[in-house]
Amino acid sequence: HRSSWCQPQYSAFVGNIDMIAELCTLYDDYGLIAYANTKGAAVQQLYNNLQERKATVEDALRFLLGYLHDDDVKKYAAAFGLEEVADAVGTNPGGNPHNSLMLDPARHFLPVNDVKFFIDQMARYKYNILQLHLTDDQGWRVEIKKHPKLVGKDYYTQEQLAEIIQYAAQRNIEVIPELDIPGHTVAILAAYPELGCTHTDTLPKIVGKTTDLMLCANNEKVYSVYQDIIKEISSLFPSDYIHLGGDEAVIEKNWTQCSRCESMMKKLGYQKASQLMIPFFSRMLSFVQENNKTPILWCELDNIYPPANDYLFPYPKNVTLVSWRGGLTPTCLELTRKHGNPLIMAPGEYAYLDYPQLKGDFPEFNNWGMPVTTLEKSYQFDPGYGVPAEDQAHIIGVMGTLWGEAIRDINRATYMAYPRAFALAEAGWTQMKFHNWESFKQRLYPNLTNLMKKGVSVRVPFEIADKK
Ligand code: ACM
Ligand code: ZN
Repeated sequence: HRSSWCQPQYSAFVGNIDMIAELCTLYDDYGLIAYANTKGAAVQQLYNNLQERKATVEDALRFLLGYLHDDDVKKYAAAFGLEEVADAVGTNPGGNPHNSLMLDPARHFLPVNDVKFFIDQMARYKYNILQLHLTDDQGWRVEIKKHPKLVGKDYYTQEQLAEIIQYAAQRNIEVIPELDIPGHTVAILAAYPELGCTHTDTLPKIVGKTTDLMLCANNEKVYSVYQDIIKEISSLFPSDYIHLGGDEAVIEKNWTQCSRCESMMKKLGYQKASQLMIPFFSRMLSFVQENNKTPILWCELDNIYPPANDYLFPYPKNVTLVSWRGGLTPTCLELTRKHGNPLIMAPGEYAYLDYPQLKGDFPEFNNWGMPVTTLEKSYQFDPGYGVPAEDQAHIIGVMGTLWGEAIRDINRATYMAYPRAFALAEAGWTQMKFHNWESFKQRLYPNLTNLMKKGVSVRVPFEIADKK
């Protein structure tokens, strides 16, 4: 088969045929598998197609930036004397590109082969990180050998996850595990009800039905169980990162009403129950540390709507944060800069790919009145939010989320992702000064067609077509 990176719709680059041949060899469909046998024919066909078009520096730039790794871009750009290209490399302000999509098999389970199918499409668009949201109120999806009661009917064995991780790694994609705490924990509380707060001891905890419960902050068993879990997850996932959630903790319904949490507040002299996040995450993050991993948390502020002034609680410096809540990204950006936390940009306005792409479009179920995020809106995403370069230097990349409440299977996941994930890929890889909506629209349809030919469910953005 022919390399998707080398298909002519990606590029009108007319260059040295040897260089193109080398690129095709390096970056075939899966980014790794050399296909020396088919190289001749593929390159010839590519060359013929290229001959029919005029190349511009911009075309070359897009080809190079979109489908190669930065070091290679620099190398080839230098070899071709394309100063403009060389200058454009390193588009992620932090220089450590973290271009990710997030799948949520906790809400609706996604079988191994479906995750692999999703990874195949990510690789085409140079995504290099897949975050798996593995635990939530609707399910615990990762086998933990020391605590086998955690999983239900649908879950990944450690062996299956190792298979996903390896499959992804072969396509230059790292898999980051997310275990969401202290909220979003009904699945673990259903298995171990004693991990909740005192006033919830007698409450039924039904996976997929009960919500808003949390792990107790003052319960040794919570910490010892998570120490075990984080240890197993750390040895299973080679990624340096572990994401521990930290979002949407309904503190007033849990820690505020718990006698154990109350006594902990008294002992520590806290005025607000949210301050219990300090000792809670201090313990949890120490488990991450003892396994030599770097923690990631969703950024929560002292208000869930603007205006907000500060973090929900003081995040330690070594925590990478993800900005996600609508309207609050400028504040997250400023606070993370001030406090020195690396930041991943997943602002709801642009990067929540589970939101509808047009009014009236999917999702048709579990849609709570989600805001609409059109393709054009996603394309307007500037990961640096227009702040001066020095104030965005701590941004390490972007993430598109596919929360699974309203995504029942992988076909719907790809439908929600594409084409907006094209726009997000470009946000992650290409400097804003090289963004061009007209050019994007031109490149859009051949790429959508290509995905459709491969059986990928996508949304056709008829609303932006030129119907004249
Ligand atoms: C989130 O969307 N709850 C991070
Ligand atoms: Zn408690």
